[in-house]
Amino acid sequence: MKPKVLVTRRIFDESLSTLATVCDVESNQKDVPFTPRQLLQKLKGKDAVICLLTDAISDPVLARNPQLKIVSNVAVGYNNVDVKAATRRGVMVTNTPGVLDDTTADFTWCLILATARGLIDADRTFRSGKWKGWGVMQFMGHDVHGKTLGICGFGRIGRGVARRARGFDMRILYTDVQRAPESVETEVGATYVDKRTLLRESDVVTLHVPLFPETTHYIGARELAQMKERALLINAARGPVVDERALVKALRAGRIAGAGLDVYEREPKPAPGLTRLRNTVLAPHIASASVETRRKMSDMAVANSVAGLAGRRPPNLLNPEVLRSAAI
Ligand code: DGY
Repeated sequence: MKPKVLVTRRIFDESLSTLATVCDVESNQKDVPFTPRQLLQKLKGKDAVICLLTDAISDPVLARNPQLKIVSNVAVGYNNVDVKAATRRGVMVTNTPGVLDDTTADFTWCLILATARGLIDADRTFRSGKWKGWGVMQFMGHDVHGKTLGICGFGRIGRGVARRARGFDMRILYTDVQRAPESVETEVGATYVDKRTLLRESDVVTLHVPLFPETTHYIGARELAQMKERALLINAARGPVVDERALVKALRAGRIAGAGLDVYEREPKPAPGLTRLRNTVLAPHIASASVETRRKMSDMAVANSVAGLAGRRPPNLLNPEVLRSAAI
């Protein structure tokens, strides 16, 4: 008998076909997230689940499905999965690291430039037919070249953002729980500083920290108050890293100049007032959304599941501790 796998949302047909050669697949091709109750029903009897950030794989969900062997997330972030609980219950958890770093770094730059130059607001004005022709004092944003970029979280994506910043002749600061090796600092031309210095000195602050309890509201009212009035805040990491209500207040009050966001505290809902602010660029969590990258993520999630179900170590296993007891 083939192992049974639930795919909770739409992924690439090609990835599904690969999966179907070795597994019995039930897939939600409607691409509407399951409600928690539907998810529980659908998981019954499944050996593996290929899931998205929109699926909460909590301890109670795992408890109700003791047959589950592997949770394969189609994302590098995995804050939707209770990894500790999964480990305790002997369930493997995997993600899709590496393949989306450059795409996300590219998109971060999309946000930086679009926010600095007010591109979306200008586009909206043009489309509405309200633009009456060129003028010196119209649609002025701020330069990015030659300014200071502050990167919070200097992992693969943060470093990718730094590399791209060199083309804009920027001074690059970064902060992280761990300082990067000197060779990396030299290669990308970045200087390690503490968070306070970074917030005080940067013209653009961009967030690339993972979401953990310690990074929830990493940027709140206090941090926003430490930033320059002309500064921009960019978030392509996770929504709850920013206190979104505090951000709306700061933007409204002109405490900082603008924000470019790809992620939100309570997706898919924005904080009250956010969408009415003109000094924002608001994208619907699309930083990794290129055809090439999403295909790789989709294939990787399938490969992780297939390996785990075949008794092999999944290439992107987050909790190798589970293998000790299972002796894979
Ligand atoms: C991730 O992978 O964690 C992104 O947020 C979606 O690509």
